[in-house]
Amino acid sequence: MPLIIQPDYAAISQTAANEIIQLIRQQPNAVICIASGDSPKLACQYFVQQALQEKLDLSQFFFVGLDEWVGLDGSTKGSCRYDFENRLFGPLQLPATQYHLFDGKADDLQEECIKMDAIIEEKGGIDLMIVGIGMNGHIGFNEPGVDASLLSHVIGLDETTRTVGKKYFDEPVALTQGITLGLGHLLQAKKVILMANGERKAPIVQQALEQPVSEGLPASILQQHPQGIWLIDELAAASLNHRG
Ligand code: F6R
Repeated sequence: MPLIIQPDYAAISQTAANEIIQLIRQQPNAVICIASGDSPKLACQYFVQQALQEKLDLSQFFFVGLDEWVGLDGSTKGSCRYDFENRLFGPLQLPATQYHLFDGKADDLQEECIKMDAIIEEKGGIDLMIVGIGMNGHIGFNEPGVDASLLSHVIGLDETTRTVGKKYFDEPVALTQGITLGLGHLLQAKKVILMANGERKAPIVQQALEQPVSEGLPASILQQHPQGIWLIDELAAASLNHRG
């Protein structure tokens, strides 16, 4: 369970971007899943800059979105789709055939889950996931108490997720449910990098990394992943009792 502690947000973002670049160089048809939200934002920016600069062959890689707020699509600034269109697909001019995201506005959300699971399976599984950790220890929208064996599912959002989630939106939006890849996907992915930065993440990072694995703290499941990497900055590492 490697733990990488680097000085600051810029450093962990560069490390994560390098991981994406290296993977695509070695395996051009890699399947990559990245969270939206603040944690991987700069890593996406660095990845895009570097990929364009070195004219990396992006014609074969496939992108999978981690989650979406139920009821939202790309027309709402702050939705996960909005983030990816602006952070990745637009700047990289990635055709729609090279990515799949949940449609939070779909009439049949169960069908959305089935479709996502089928696409991931057909692509041969996820090679690299880059995720964040919520203030309640969630990953994606795998909220505290979630069944860790689940694949894609729809879930009622925890109070903390609803409250913290307001930060992404300019205007009030109803945040009640999420649609998300499951911890089953996380455990099956070949490699997972969890990014955390800033002092407000320090207590939850300490719990998820140093307390026993439990479904009450979904991110702790990453302790069980042989290629689960904790990539955190000094501020987020401040409460750890062991630094590797
Ligand atoms: C977003 C997502 C969430 C966030 C988490 C941390 O797609 O899946 O689990 O990764 O809530 O959010 P930030 O990075 O904004 O602190």
